[in-house]
Amino acid sequence: MTEKDFLTSEYGSLKNTGKVRWKSPSNIALVKYWGKKKNQVPANPSLSFTLDVCATDTTISYHKLDKRTTGFSFDLLFEGKLKSDFRPKIETFFNRIDSYLPFLRVYHFKIETSNSFPHSSGIASSASGMSALALCLMSMERELVSEMDTKFFNKKASFLARLGSGSACRSIEGPLVQWGNHSTIEGSSDFYGIEYPYKIHEIFRNFQDTILLVDEGQKQISSSVGHDLMHGHPFAEQRFGQGHSHLSDFRSILADGNLDKFIKIVESEALTLHAMMMTSHPYFILMKPNTLEIINRIWSFRETSKAKVCFTLDAGANVHVLYPEQEKETVYEFIKNELLHFCKDEKHICDRTGLGSKNLSKITGT
Ligand code: PMV
Repeated sequence: MTEKDFLTSEYGSLKNTGKVRWKSPSNIALVKYWGKKKNQVPANPSLSFTLDVCATDTTISYHKLDKRTTGFSFDLLFEGKLKSDFRPKIETFFNRIDSYLPFLRVYHFKIETSNSFPHSSGIASSASGMSALALCLMSMERELVSEMDTKFFNKKASFLARLGSGSACRSIEGPLVQWGNHSTIEGSSDFYGIEYPYKIHEIFRNFQDTILLVDEGQKQISSSVGHDLMHGHPFAEQRFGQGHSHLSDFRSILADGNLDKFIKIVESEALTLHAMMMTSHPYFILMKPNTLEIINRIWSFRETSKAKVCFTLDAGANVHVLYPEQEKETVYEFIKNELLHFCKDEKHICDRTGLGSKNLSKITGT
C-alpha cells in the first residue's frame, strides 16, 4: 500500500456529537529505529515487543462546528487537568494527518488522556499516547464511512500514529510488530507496522519486561533531535545495514526460540543505539552510572545462573530486563535482591508482552 491509499474520498453525513475511547500500550524495540528520512520514514526497519501494563487511555468527545475552521479546535486534558505544553505536539500531529482525515477541521475535540505509568518516570509516553489518539480518530472515521474492515482500520491507525511518533506505529497490535521495508519480510512497509508474519516460538509468549526506573524526569536530548543527528553521522550507513541484517537473523531465532542468539542481538542493538548517540556531533550520553551497574550485574548473574535474561534500553537511562515467563521467579528474585537499589526509590514496573490496543468506546452520540 502507498500513502495515497490512506486518503479518504467522501464521508456520508457527519455525526453531530460522539465519544470514542481507546487504550493503547507502549512498546520496546528489539531492533531499534534510530534515524529517519522525510515524512517519518524510518532509515532502517525495526521490530518490537508490544507491552501490556504501560499504556495510555484516551477519550475524545467531539461536537460538530458550524463551519470548517482554519486551525484545529481542541482542548487537551492530561490526568484531568488542562495541559497547554502538550498542545504544540498535537497541533503538529493534526497538521501532518489533516489530508488523511478531512473531518479534523469540522469538529471541536475534548481529548482526555492518562497514562498507567508515572509521567516523570522517564518512560516515553509518545508511542502509547500517539497510538491511542490515532485509534480514537480512526474510530471516528469508521463511523463516517460506510465500510471499513479491521485490517484497514489497524493499518491506517498505525500509519497515522507513525506521523505522530515513529515508534507509535508499532503499538496498535501485538505481541511482536515489525515496521519498515525489509527485503525478505513480506508485507513490510515504511508507512505502518505489521504483526510479525512468521513463526514465533512459544518461549516468547508472555515474555517478561521488568522496567527499572533509573532516572526520572525529562531527557536532555529529545528523540527527534537524536534521529536528526543520524544525518551525516560517520557510522550511519553501517548501522542501518546492521538493522536490516539483525532483522534477517531474527527469523530463525524467533522460529526456533534460540534465546542465546536472541540475547546477543537484543543487547547489541541496545548498545549500538547508545553508541550512535555517543558518536554523533554533538555527542551525548543518556545512560547513567546505575545503568552500567545494572548491565554488569545482569551479565554476572547470567554467567553464574545460566538464566536467559538480558537487557535492552531505549533513548534514556532506564533498563528493560527481558526474560521468559518460565524463569520469572528466579530472575525477579535476582532483580529484587541485586538491581532495585540502583533504581530511584526502588521504582520499577513489571510488564510483559501484550496483544495490542483495546477499544473502550461505548456507542454514544448523535
Ligand atoms: O518514536 P520516536 O521518534 O520517539 O523514536 C523512538 C526511538 C527508540 O525508542 C530509541 C527506538 C525504537 O525503535 O523504539
